[in-house]
Amino acid sequence: MMADSAGTAGCRWAGVVVPAAARIQLTTDFCRDCGASLTDGAISERSSTGAMTGSLMPAGAERRQLTVMFCDLVGSTALASRLDPEDLREVLGEYHKDVARAVGRFDGFVAKYMGDGVVTYFGYPQAHEDDAERAVRAGFKIVAIPRLVPAAPGGTLRVRVGIATGLVVVGDLVGAGESYERGVVGETPNLAARLQALAEPGDVIIDARTHRLTGGGFDYEQLGELELKGFAAPVAAWRVRGEAVVDSRFEALHPAATLTPLVGREQEIELILRRWEQARKGEGQVVLLIGEPGIGKSRLSVAFQERLIDGACVRLRYFCSPHHQDSALYPTIMQLERAAGFERDDTPEIKFHKLEALLTRTSSPSAEMTLLAEFLQIPAGDLYTPSELDPQRKKEETFEALLRQLTAIARHPS
Ligand SMILES: Nc1ncnc2c1ncn2[C@@H]1O[C@H](COP(=O)(O)OP(=O)(O)OP(=O)(O)O)[C@@H](O)[C@H]1O
Ligand SMILES: [Mg+2]
Repeated sequence: MMADSAGTAGCRWAGVVVPAAARIQLTTDFCRDCGASLTDGAISERSSTGAMTGSLMPAGAERRQLTVMFCDLVGSTALASRLDPEDLREVLGEYHKDVARAVGRFDGFVAKYMGDGVVTYFGYPQAHEDDAERAVRAGFKIVAIPRLVPAAPGGTLRVRVGIATGLVVVGDLVGAGESYERGVVGETPNLAARLQALAEPGDVIIDARTHRLTGGGFDYEQLGELELKGFAAPVAAWRVRGEAVVDSRFEALHPAATLTPLVGREQEIELILRRWEQARKGEGQVVLLIGEPGIGKSRLSVAFQERLIDGACVRLRYFCSPHHQDSALYPTIMQLERAAGFERDDTPEIKFHKLEALLTRTSSPSAEMTLLAEFLQIPAGDLYTPSELDPQRKKEETFEALLRQLTAIARHPS
């Protein structure tokens, strides 16, 4: 088992004491600035020709990859003819606030409000490795917010979202004060706007680069090659159906076929394999892998798992997500949902039966079934009677049920 814990941990269910954790601190022998080896003494001077500055680029302008999201309210023209301008202003104000909140949550930047259209950037001013994913998540939040406006066609206001990623030049376009604007020049904003215009109400449409960057993190529907006004060649586009049920973010973004061969790390793998052998002999072990972002922690854990070829083990994997930091039990919930085989369109009844089938394997009593169904937020309906425990007691009993699951699997790993 690998976990982010150190020191001695006790398991009161199995009576097994886990000895002190092995700590592996991953480091690199290369200079982080220039990439030169620090061990062979050949540290070269950094080239000064890398950045585009001076005469090539106006001051304050920058060439960078950006994900642009374009949101638009559906049917706002019809609404404008039905609503008093003051009421319309209120509706638009609420919508702008929703967009700003969703974009802010994923560290994006609202660049411009254009009536009912909003242009936002992900990757500016602050860049993140997963800006494309952040944009898609923000887009989903925005289309999912219910906007009940009686004067709107059908009584609700819907939003369409288009997202595109590409190289742009970002910088001060014109003006100062009120008209000051951080403009973006390039094809990407136009593409985002065109994709938005093609979206059905409530849909999020993305371009090829956003699709590639978000990897297996979402389920998509391919829309084929689309003819877009102003674009010489047809453009590939996808509709995002929702978040994919993925085990590991690393594996979703790096399919095995695309991984380059593992370099070095033999010693670290040897160490983990030795700990694994000890664990198999009954001396439970915890291995803690720590190191800077991108240094290869996930890759190392995948390489270790590939060496477990004898199959005589059950692998339980719990993954945190930077986008679910407000839910402490998110890794446990997702693990249970994956183990039960929940799918996006499953009804509460199907989910309940899938959970039941999973728990039957470990002969769990029905009180546990109720607790875990509530834990996974399966609506009770006629399926089960919600427990009447007070919240604190319910939490304790849920934790105990989860622990009993773990020890039951560990005792009979088949
Ligand atoms: N020893 C290695 N040999 C070959 N490729 C490697 C090695 N270590 C890491 N990589 C590659 O470097 C990239 C970053 O590695 P990885 O995602 O495992 O880092 P990480 O430490 O888990 O980062 P984070 O803290 O952001 O999760 C991946 O594409 C991975 O395949
Ligand atoms: Mg990682």
